[in-house]
Amino acid sequence: ELSFIHRYEPATDQGHPPLLLLHGTGGDENDLINLGRMVSPGSALLSPRGKILENGMPRFFRRLAEGVFDEEDVRFRANELADFVAEARDAYGLGAPIALGFSNGANIAAAMLMLRPEALAGAALLRAMVPLSDAPKTDLAGKRVLMVSGQMDPIIPVDNSARLAASLASSGADVQHETLPTGHGLSQTDLQLLLKWLA
Ligand code: MLT
Repeated sequence: ELSFIHRYEPATDQGHPPLLLLHGTGGDENDLINLGRMVSPGSALLSPRGKILENGMPRFFRRLAEGVFDEEDVRFRANELADFVAEARDAYGLGAPIALGFSNGANIAAAMLMLRPEALAGAALLRAMVPLSDAPKTDLAGKRVLMVSGQMDPIIPVDNSARLAASLASSGADVQHETLPTGHGLSQTDLQLLLKWLA
């Protein structure tokens, strides 16, 4: 028994890296399967369900309000999820995955990069914000990160996503940060950027 409820789809093309799919608030392990298939055909897909329930909506860590995080829980949950990734890699014989996270899922992926960089080969962060106010210094050399933000995102101020991009880059990650003329929801352009970045 692995430690998270999850879906797993084996690779059909070993040339593509495994993806760790991380849903947004109110989503579950099924949400991003089609997106994963679309942007990286043939990749193994590992898709856990967040363990926190907020009014019945699954999430990956607790928050005090929208955009205000319980940082102690962020740390605990990022470590717990990194442990799950290690278990799943053993169980399914996978290499280090690239995280593909949306919103709350992107935020926990960013926290994992900061706290447990060995867990991920890289990350695509859709509508991510700074998950920890005092992140430890880590070495992200060799890790590719795509961030796609929305200029009119009502939850994430543009300077907040810019700070996250700068912090990941200053730890050595190879960061591509795109800001689209859109809100918190995903657009066609997100898909195109993902396809190109993952190719
Ligand atoms: C979060 O809680 O991670 C952010 O507010 C994004 C969200 O899930 O709405």
